Amino acid sequence: MPLMNALKLRHSSREYSERPVSDQTLSNLLWAGFGINRAGGDRTAPYWRHIMVIDVYVAMADGVWIYQPAAHVLAPLLPDDIRVHTGLQDFVAAAPLNLIYVAHGERMTDITAADRQLYASVDSAFIGQNVYLFCASEGLATVFRGAIDYPTLTQALKLSAGRFVTFAQTVGYPRGTS
Ligand SMILES: Cc1cc2nc3c(=O)[nH]c(=O)nc-3n(C[C@H](O)[C@H](O)[C@H](O)COP(=O)(O)O)c2cc1C
Repeated sequence: MPLMNALKLRHSSREYSERPVSDQTLSNLLWAGFGINRAGGDRTAPYWRHIMVIDVYVAMADGVWIYQPAAHVLAPLLPDDIRVHTGLQDFVAAAPLNLIYVAHGERMTDITAADRQLYASVDSAFIGQNVYLFCASEGLATVFRGAIDYPTLTQALKLSAGRFVTFAQTVGYPRGTS
């Protein structure tokens, strides 16, 4: 789809079908979001100071996975269905995918905690917009979300010291589609 058409269709959705997203579509979604698009390993989204801060986690019914762009694979992190903990809105528990943007705060040295939050959030937002445009072009529904119980999600993900969640983003098919 031409970019201008995808921009015309971009919007947030809060009603999802339980229809699964195929592996190929998930693969394309992750590449569009934050995949490697150049020989040097750089990404489809810009990032702060050329330091790789954001990991994209994917919470699905079969567990939590981490996107590894270099190999373009999803690596298993947890076997649990934690979708219900990814946000405060009801639809998150049943939508097939919740992306979670997780920052490596420990890689952001010599800046304040407020700046760590700022730059990690901006990095996440660029990925989020890539995901919005991919979804618009594929007939998928999505919403970027900050309404999260952060301590609960941090605990559910068993994040190590220094890592923190910035935002989450639900993806699925619009309710009423099968
Ligand atoms: C930083 C940020 C946080 C957001 N958090 C939520 C959220 O927690 N839940 C939600 O339903 N929408 C959330 N949104 C989506 C906005 O509500 C939505 O983008 C806005 O209402 C405009 O609607 P549109 O995206 O359809 O143009 C968030 C958007 C941004 C940029």
